[in-house]
This record gives sequence, C-alpha cells and structure tokens, in this order.
Amino acid sequence: MKYQLKKICDSDSLSFFRQKSEPVTKGDKGIGEIIDNMLAIMYKNNAIGMAAVMIGIHKRIVVIDLQENNRKKPIVLVNPEVVSVSDEIIELDEASISLDNVTCKVKRPKDVKIKYLNTNFEEHELSASSLLAVCLQHEIDYLDGKLFFDYIADEERNKIILAIESDLKIKNIIDDIDILRTKCEPIKTIDEKTKQELDKMLEIMYGSNGVGLAANQVGLAKRMVVIDIQPDGKKQPVFLINPKITWYSDNYIESEEGCLSVPGCSAEVKRPEKVKVEYTNINSEKVVTEADGLLARCLQHELDHLDGKIYIDYLSKLKRDMIIKKVKKQLNT
Ligand code: CO
Repeated sequence: MKYQLKKICDSDSLSFFRQKSEPVTKGDKGIGEIIDNMLAIMYKNNAIGMAAVMIGIHKRIVVIDLQENNRKKPIVLVNPEVVSVSDEIIELDEASISLDNVTCKVKRPKDVKIKYLNTNFEEHELSASSLLAVCLQHEIDYLDGKLFFDYIADEERNKIILAIESDLKIKNIIDDIDILRTKCEPIKTIDEKTKQELDKMLEIMYGSNGVGLAANQVGLAKRMVVIDIQPDGKKQPVFLINPKITWYSDNYIESEEGCLSVPGCSAEVKRPEKVKVEYTNINSEKVVTEADGLLARCLQHELDHLDGKIYIDYLSKLKRDMIIKKVKKQLNT
C-alpha cells in the first residue's frame, strides 16, 4: 500500500492536520489509489470514516462506511460540502484512529444535507441523520483543519493539545524541512497556552545557547519568536508575537550566522544593517522598535523563519549543498 495512516502525535503532525485540504480537480492523478488506500486503512482499523488528510493527503476526499449489518457499503465523497444542518442537536462520543487515547462527547446537529461529487465527478446530495450525520460532519471538518476536540470546553481541549505538543524539540533542516518551510499563522489571542509555549521556547533556546528561536523551529506554525542577545551579558528575553519588519536600511552588512535548525554550521550572510520592527509583546501591547547590529540580524533571521525562509537560502547553491551535507553527517553520528 502506498499510503499509511497518519497519526496526530506531536506538534508537527497536529499542524499538518490543521491545514486546509485542496479541492479535487479532474486533472488530479492518483485519486483512485488514494481512495482505495483510504478504504483499506479504514476497514483495517475498524473505523467508520476517513478523510484523506488521515493518510497524509491534503485533498478534499472523505470515505464513510457504517457497515450496518456487517455489510460493506462505502460512500466516497469528493469535495463534500455541508449544505444545511438541523437545529436539533445530538451528543455522541467521538474519537479518531489518527489520535490515540482521546474520546470526547461532541454536540453536533442531528441532521445534515451534504453536496458532493462521486468519483465520476457527478454531483450528488445526501441527507443523513444521527450517527451518519455526525460521521459526515466529523470527516468533513478534517478537510478544513478542524478536529473533533475543537468542540469541547477550552480547558479540556487545551489539555489534549498540550499533551500532543508537550514534546517540543528543535527541528532540523534534514528531518523536519516541511515545518521549517511552513508560513506560520498569525496569533489571534495571547492566552495562557501561548505564554507557556513562549516560555518553553525560551528554555529550549537558552538550553541550546541560541540567541533567537522561531516557533516553527520547535514545530509550532505560529508567528512568534523569542530573542535574547544578552546585551550586557545578562538575560534579557524579548517575546515577539506577530512581528513585522516595517523598514530596512539601504546599507547592508555581511556577518556570520548560524541557526539551531542547521546544527554545527555557520556562514556569512549579507543583510540590511538596520530594521524597524512592529510586534505585540506578551502583555498584548503593540511595540515598535528600531534595531541595529546583532539584534537587527537576529530579528531578520528569526522573522524569515516565520515565512519558511532559512539563512542558507541566501547562500550560493554550492555553499548551501555543503552545509546540508555537513548537517546530514552530523545528525547521523
Ligand atoms: Co534560525
């Protein structure tokens, strides 16, 4: 089988599941194989529904089979959309084969009407009630990056997410290039969890003797950065949320740069000497600051990370390839 069940087991995989899936188009190749694999994995795991993201594919495909009377009767839904829902609500236990050890009671509309395409791209409609309706909503949610535990109370949900993400580790360009190439999402509210994550990032940064760390370097696709260049030899951490560079000086300087995601390497990089940065601090206050020297370089380097950019992108292909080779060797030893 080409595809395998993808699990939500750390922050990387959670952010993968948080991405919106793309509609299937007639030109897409391999859709038949994806569907076959989804069905096989669903039956093998005694599940009643699957979304393509659960085998690592960001395509809008859902398969469902309640197997009533122990008979297989799969429904394949391409580009499904919820057309309408009832006011009446039911509450059922929900779980996912992609997430171990989590079951929650979720309230959802009892009846739904779904519009979808079959595998021949013919339009269909389906009205469903009770378990089938819940299953459809649960799977279609996946296509928009929504998970069943998003419906439960904040406190309980945060516990689940913290448990999934608790293992924050520095990502490197060899094993984790996807998250390092991800454009991070803006942070809407700065809550306790955000603060915990920033504290954890700082701890990791100090522990690795770094001067800056972007959230996606520990697997969180969020626009936040911690920096501490320890100006007077004393710890002076800065937390930057949704930071943006609003001005660059015309003057460039070249200086040596390294990155915790590119272990054991450094190279000369040319960057604007000064920048102006706007960000929100941990107390939700807007801050505007101008920086030069190491701080200006560090800000540019970290903010690049949030857009999926790494300092080696500024180097010649030859130098970049040498660094990648060196990191690979280092990780294998
Ligand atoms: Co870096």
